[in-house]
Amino acid sequence: MNTTAIPLEATSSRPAAHQPVTPAMQTEVARKADVVVEFLRGVVEEFGADGSLVFANSLGAEDMVLTDLIARNALPIEVFSLDTGRLPTETYDLMAAVQQRYGLKLKVYYPNHESVEIYVRSHGINAFYESVELRKACCHARKVEPLTRALAGKKAWITGLRAQQSSTRSGLPTREYDDANGLIKLSPLADWSEKEVWAYIRLHEVPYNVLHDRFYPSIGCAPCTRPVAVGEDVRAGRWWWEDPQYKECGLHKSRG
Ligand code: ADX
Ligand code: SF4
Repeated sequence: MNTTAIPLEATSSRPAAHQPVTPAMQTEVARKADVVVEFLRGVVEEFGADGSLVFANSLGAEDMVLTDLIARNALPIEVFSLDTGRLPTETYDLMAAVQQRYGLKLKVYYPNHESVEIYVRSHGINAFYESVELRKACCHARKVEPLTRALAGKKAWITGLRAQQSSTRSGLPTREYDDANGLIKLSPLADWSEKEVWAYIRLHEVPYNVLHDRFYPSIGCAPCTRPVAVGEDVRAGRWWWEDPQYKECGLHKSRG
């Protein structure tokens, strides 16, 4: 298994959630948050407040920043999550905490049960470790197909992607046309750093996944996510047995 790390956003010896927030960082994060709110207000106006604009919330740190900004500003944006059926318990706990804290109606999408049954019967419950093809097939059944349903009939979707997350995301714009899904894709945190995300979370006491405190900077399905070592990049713990160039599940096209 390949564990090559890309030193894009090397984590320090402490999880980002516990790093101090300097006054300069506080000012910068407040400024960037204002920019995001303006951006979101603009797209609500452009795409309408009738459910045509949706936010894909994985409950990751970036998505918690967006959740807080959307809720705090009462922006009429529908929020959905894809429950693959293999998420960590801690993510389900956060899902419940988010609904309670924000009174948010999270629309949860599930995989098509027949697709999952066929996959498991044909290949095995953990077949994603065997090859990139089988891993992608699992991601397709558990994430990509449900995403297609979540985005059907929508005009634009919001994601918590950041350009610095990995080589496959460098050059990410805040707005682009998503060919694969046939609608506009918006990534308002594209130019945020990991430190800025965590500064926002700390300053606003935003709930977050407790796994982040255990050296999981990026969290996906439980069997495909592990903690990172000091100095490894933030996505090194995702599909850690694969080359970095393959580390996308199909929700987002690779730019690498
Ligand atoms: S992934 O492609 O590797 O799984 P990542 O976890 O970095 O993606 O998340 C990037 C963005 O994709 C998130 O900010 C979110 O907008 C969307 N996303 C990923 N997983 C989910 C999910 N389970 N439910 C909803 N949105 C998701
Ligand atoms: Fe399947 Fe792993 Fe992809 Fe989750 S991340 S859908 S368990 S291959």
